[in-house]
Amino acid sequence: MRALEFTEYGGPEVLKWGDAPVPHPGSGQIRIAVRAASVNPVDWKRLAGAMSGGQPLAGTGRLGSDAAGVVDELGEGVTGVSVGDEVFGRGQNTQAEFAVMDSWAFKPPSIDWAVAAAAGIAGETAERGLRLLGVKAGHAIFVDGGAGGVGAVAVQMALARGARVIASSSEANSDYLREIGAIPVLYGEGVGDRVRAAAGGPVDAVFDVAGKTPIEELVSLVSEPSQVVSIANFGAAQAGARVTGGAADSRPTEALAEVAQLLAQNKLVIKVQTFPFDRAAEAYRISQSGHVRGKLVLIP
Ligand SMILES: NC(=O)c1ccc[n+]([C@@H]2O[C@H](COP(=O)([O-])OP(=O)(O)OC[C@H]3O[C@@H](n4cnc5c(N)ncnc54)[C@H](OP(=O)(O)O)[C@@H]3O)[C@@H](O)[C@H]2O)c1
Repeated sequence: MRALEFTEYGGPEVLKWGDAPVPHPGSGQIRIAVRAASVNPVDWKRLAGAMSGGQPLAGTGRLGSDAAGVVDELGEGVTGVSVGDEVFGRGQNTQAEFAVMDSWAFKPPSIDWAVAAAAGIAGETAERGLRLLGVKAGHAIFVDGGAGGVGAVAVQMALARGARVIASSSEANSDYLREIGAIPVLYGEGVGDRVRAAAGGPVDAVFDVAGKTPIEELVSLVSEPSQVVSIANFGAAQAGARVTGGAADSRPTEALAEVAQLLAQNKLVIKVQTFPFDRAAEAYRISQSGHVRGKLVLIP
């Protein structure tokens, strides 16, 4: 099968489409014929060797952590899903013709393959952040980096829970934030004051999706430092904020089910830019720029 590969660490220029063995699902996993697979920042971080702990690359590297497709093989012990079902979720080496999935939900029939593929990592991460922050109706939450993959889902999921959402972006994405229901503020110097002005005071929770604002400034927005959760600033704990990497605190099956429901109800709309597999490097370059609106998705 075709799979996106690399044999040396580097930038998008070292990516190539190789001929890889078709994987088989292990216990509790399924295999899908991939219809769409999204690009996440972790892909280019992995490609660059930033996740290797300084170790040299062993063998061929493959990429992709989420996808949507048609189930074509079931691992041992899997129930509740059948060959031929249309699903989306989180998996391994998903930027390929076939991929093994670890967690999934049924794709709502009205939802496009590319949108479903975009919802795996972004949806699970957004659900995790909001759950850790205890976001509920009546709360005011600040999403720092609201226009990107995780941010735009977090904004809409928080709104669906009845929260009031202030979110940051560059000027180019202010209207997009307004479109998805957030009160937009510009990120950068003075963002804390702009959030206080927009919220009419402190907020109940801060979800730091971008990891770019000094953590002290984010902590100053809430009554308890632990009401700041970051997915991208791994030094944030020093200021009393919480950092989540998505291991023990992840509930992917529940999260994906919630995401599927919000997609079906049109309460979650994900803006996607699609690229045929052959243009994967272009999508990686845009992701690497750090200024993505919504999600980038590869189509076989
Ligand atoms: N820990 C975890 O479990 C986990 C899970 C998923 C992702 N992540 C990490 O979380 C980060 C975001 O992921 P993503 O998929 O949402 O990325 P993305 O789609 O590339 O979005 C990045 C967003 O950051 C915004 N941004 C850029 N500079 C900013 C600044 N100075 N202040 C605030 N926002 C800024 C951009 O807004 P503009 O376009 O308007 O500039 C863009 O919308 C990445 O580092 C990723 O690796 C962590």
